[in-house]
Amino acid sequence: MSYDVTAVRAHFPALGGPGSPGAAHFDGPGGSQSPVQVADAVAGVLRSAVANKGTVTAAERRATEIVDAARAAGADLVGADPAGIVFGRSMTQLTYDFARTLAKTWGPGDEVVVTRLDHDANVRPWVQAATAAGATVRWADFDPATGVLTADDVATALSARTRLVAITGASNLLGSRPDVATVAATAHEAGALVYVDGVHLTPHAFVDVAALGADFYACSPYKFLGPHLGMLAAAPALLEELRPDKLLPASDIVPERFEYGTLPYESLAGTTAAVDFLAGLVPGSGPRRARLATSMEALEQHESVLLSRLDDGLARIGGVVRYGDPDRARTPTTLFTVAGVAPAEVYRALAERDVNAPAGTFYAYEAARVLGIEKTGAVRAGIAPYTGESDVDRLLDAVEGIKT
Ligand SMILES: Cc1ncc(COP(=O)(O)O)c(C=O)c1O
Repeated sequence: MSYDVTAVRAHFPALGGPGSPGAAHFDGPGGSQSPVQVADAVAGVLRSAVANKGTVTAAERRATEIVDAARAAGADLVGADPAGIVFGRSMTQLTYDFARTLAKTWGPGDEVVVTRLDHDANVRPWVQAATAAGATVRWADFDPATGVLTADDVATALSARTRLVAITGASNLLGSRPDVATVAATAHEAGALVYVDGVHLTPHAFVDVAALGADFYACSPYKFLGPHLGMLAAAPALLEELRPDKLLPASDIVPERFEYGTLPYESLAGTTAAVDFLAGLVPGSGPRRARLATSMEALEQHESVLLSRLDDGLARIGGVVRYGDPDRARTPTTLFTVAGVAPAEVYRALAERDVNAPAGTFYAYEAARVLGIEKTGAVRAGIAPYTGESDVDRLLDAVEGIKT
C-alpha cells in the first residue's frame, strides 16, 4: 500500500495549509508535530467529566477506560502485554526509576554495561545507580568513522557478573541501529537483563519487543506524534519481581506499582490517538497491531526514499561533512556540518529560511565526545511521517544558500 504524504500532512495544523506552508520541520527527533486527532483527544478529556480512576461514578469509569485504552495502544505499538505497560512523565524519569529499583539488588562485583552511542538518558541513570550500589560500569564503544556499535563491541564488555545491558534501539544523533537482538541474546546468555532505549527507534520502525529481546523497552509518545509522556514495556512477570519505592496507600499491583501519583489522563488519551493515527497512516483493516505493521513498513519506505534524497543532495553540496556511514542501516536522521560555518550559525540561517533543523549534541553526550563535536555540536535533520520531498528540497536549497 503506497504512502500518501499529502493526505497525512492534511491532519497536521502545525504544518500550515497548501496556500500558507509553515516551516519545514526536521526537528522531529527532538519532538514531532501532532495531528489534530491527538489534539482533539487531549482536549476531549479536558472537556469531559473525569475523576480519579474508579468504578462508582461515570467520571471515575471514564478515567479507568482512558488508562486501559492507553495501555492497550502502547502494547500494540511495540508488541507487548498491556499489563506490562508503565507510563511516566518521560523516558528519562522512567529510566531513573527503573535504574534505582533494579540497583537495589546490585552490589560490589556486579557489573552494568552502557554504550557510548546512547542518549545520556540511557547512560547516566545506570552509571549513577551502579556507582551508588558499589557496582562496576563497563563501556561499549562504537566506531566514530561509521557510527556503528556492533554486537561484538557490546559482547567484549560482558562478563558472568553483568546484571544489566543498557542499549539504544537507534542513535538519536546518527540514526545508526545496533543489532539489539544479537546483543540481547548474548546478554541473556551471560544472565543479564536488557534495557532498550526505543525513543528514537519507535517513530521509524515496526517494533517487536520480543524479537528485539528487550526485557525493558522505553519510549516517548511525543516523538511519535503524541503528547509529552514516557512509556515503558516489560513482561508483567518480570515487573512482579521488582519492588520500587512507593507510597504506602498507592496500588501495589503491576503495572500501577511503578506509576507515581495520578496519571495524566489527557496525555494518555492523546497517546492512544497517536497510536491509532500511526496504525492508519495507510488505509487498512483488521486488528490495530496488524495495521501498525503495514503502516510502519510503508512509513519506513517513504522515509528511506526521502533520506536518500537528503543524503544525495547533501553529498553534492561542497563543504558539507556528514557523520556516520550513510550506507549503513539507520533511521532517517542525518547529522552534518558545513565547513567554515559554525553549526549554530547554520541552524540560525536555516531557521531564517523557515527550515527547522537544530544544531547541538542532543544529550548524546558520550557520542558527541567520541565524534569530537562536544563543543560545537552539529546540525541534525530528521525525517518524520509528515515530511515531503518539497521539505527536503527546501532544506537542501537552504544549505546551499549558506555556501553561496
Ligand atoms: C534516544 C533518546 N533517548 C532518550 C531521550 C529522552 O526522552 P525523554 O525526553 O522522554 O526523557 C531522548 C530525547 O530526546 C532520545 O532522543
